Amino acid sequence: MTTTETLQIQSPPKDQIGAIVTGIDVNELGADAPQWQLLRDAIYRHRLIVIRDQQLDESQYVECARKLGRPQVYFQSNYHHPNHPEIFVSSNIAENGQKVGVARTGHYWHTDCSFEQQPLSWTSIYPQVFPHDARGTLYIDMEKVYRKLPDHLRDLVDDAVVIHAGQLRYKVQASDIDRSLQELLDRINEEVPPVRHPAVIEHPVTGEKILYLNRGFSVAIEGLSHEENTAKLAKLFEFIERPEHIHEHAWSEGDLIIWDNRFLIHMSTAVKPGQHSKSYRIGIYDDHPFYRGLVR
Ligand SMILES: [Fe+2]
Repeated sequence: MTTTETLQIQSPPKDQIGAIVTGIDVNELGADAPQWQLLRDAIYRHRLIVIRDQQLDESQYVECARKLGRPQVYFQSNYHHPNHPEIFVSSNIAENGQKVGVARTGHYWHTDCSFEQQPLSWTSIYPQVFPHDARGTLYIDMEKVYRKLPDHLRDLVDDAVVIHAGQLRYKVQASDIDRSLQELLDRINEEVPPVRHPAVIEHPVTGEKILYLNRGFSVAIEGLSHEENTAKLAKLFEFIERPEHIHEHAWSEGDLIIWDNRFLIHMSTAVKPGQHSKSYRIGIYDDHPFYRGLVR
């Protein structure tokens, strides 16, 4: 039996996200294997896929990302794996006495790189070291949230433009010592200036309308005063982050998790003090603009 015949994609229950993929070893698939297209289609259809039971070393993980799309090299090198810049390391474990990657990443609602002009299409994660207490990722399906928005909030976002900025989530590095906060803010602003995106985007493949807004990086709705923004964004975030909208995926050994950042906002769960955690991430660009109408 070939791998093509064994691939199974189990759809999530109604109103849930995340398809479970079994019966493949991504290391065995050549670049032209038809399974890659099946996986891409599944990401668009189900928002998130979990490919079970994978055994990848760092080079194989990068290779897998290349076969799916174009791997991102994150703009801040302090996150990079020392030998594979495509791998973004979230870790609180020192290796050979050296800090590797960055600890306490993404513990707030966000979507990766919404503060860039060309946001990141997909995020993949491949957890490495599991803390004693379950570690995982929380997700909210923003297409579903848009469908459920009450009229007074829908009026606020339809045709609106949102400003996204990564400045306040910047992680201070050893090389920042002796620099003032103002200097750091100015430098980040220069490196990744705030960008504008529609508050409601259209998915380039499915055409669905999606609310593109997150507490981490969405700092203002264009055209509103500071006071109006504070009040209105608070109402929107309160609705978006309602418990009934939240889906949790607890990581299991061997999981390779991939999601579409157009549909989902996410947040990592916290690691308890004294526990070790390490996860690899590779951002992947697909062949489409992030949303319809965005010029690449
Ligand atoms: Fe993230």
